Amino acid sequence: MTTPRPLALVTGASSGIGADLAREYARDGHDVVLVARTESALASLADEITRDFGVTATVIPADLSDPAAPRNLFDEMAARGLTVDVLVNNAGFGDGKPFAASDHAKTMGMIQVNIAALTDLMHAFLPGMVERRRGKVLNVASTAAFQAGPGMSVYCATKAYALSLSEGVAEELKGTGVTVTALCPGPTRTNFMDVADVADNALFSKGRVPVMTAAEVARIGFRAAKAGQVVVVAGLLNQIGAFAPRITPRSVMRKVTGRLLASGRH
Ligand SMILES: NC(=O)c1ccc[n+]([C@@H]2O[C@H](COP(=O)([O-])OP(=O)(O)OC[C@H]3O[C@@H](n4cnc5c(N)ncnc54)[C@H](OP(=O)(O)O)[C@@H]3O)[C@@H](O)[C@H]2O)c1
Repeated sequence: MTTPRPLALVTGASSGIGADLAREYARDGHDVVLVARTESALASLADEITRDFGVTATVIPADLSDPAAPRNLFDEMAARGLTVDVLVNNAGFGDGKPFAASDHAKTMGMIQVNIAALTDLMHAFLPGMVERRRGKVLNVASTAAFQAGPGMSVYCATKAYALSLSEGVAEELKGTGVTVTALCPGPTRTNFMDVADVADNALFSKGRVPVMTAAEVARIGFRAAKAGQVVVVAGLLNQIGAFAPRITPRSVMRKVTGRLLASGRH
């Protein structure tokens, strides 16, 4: 009798870091469940993954800005008899508008996807993992988690939440066989900048600060989760950047970050 392959559920798998995380798990012999809104992109990634790695890739389209989506996803997995060994909470987006000028629906949708869906999916899948004494959660936070980000205040706050929740729950789960990892990427070349409308900012524009590839970031997150590391900051420069708030007054940090984030605004 063959042992079934472990399964990784990856949200936000239709592009960027999530697509490369799905490739990492498939390369490592996991079946994958690919979740996002864009079904066509998920379907072509599923074809690629099945062809390249010989694992099963299942597509479940979902809009995680719908508060019912995480529970529907959990129910759908149960109905298909699929057990999640690795939950990758990667879906997320930002917004480069100052808070008072930001679109209400986009802001609340961001909180729903970056915070509520991430929490709800952990809440749904963690008890089973603890019961089986086996499982991993990989939450994609950001270096935005380490300081306030004037110009992207809500986004940075959502990532501070993801980091804090990951660390807290990771500690609670010590000794259970289940680990939680927060991956904190810095600027990474994906669709993120266009969706957040920040492609002109010094932090993101090509050539002004180093921008990592999604594949590099995904490899780092995958390895950290595999090792059960609680927090991983992708890349040396980002590690230095993430350390800066520990030795710099908050008043200085928010000024510097605000300047970087505002520098492309017309
Ligand atoms: N790129 C960076 O510089 C950077 C830096 C630090 C952290 N991050 C984080 O990395 C994660 C991945 O982003 P990325 O950089 O790879 O950007 P991306 O290419 O835009 O990918 C975002 C993913 O999230 C999905 N998503 C967005 N809204 C969704 C919704 N309502 N329901 C379901 N899925 C949704 C998108 O799929 P659909 O549009 O098909 O739904 C897409 O697959 C995010 O959490 C982001 O905050 C990115």
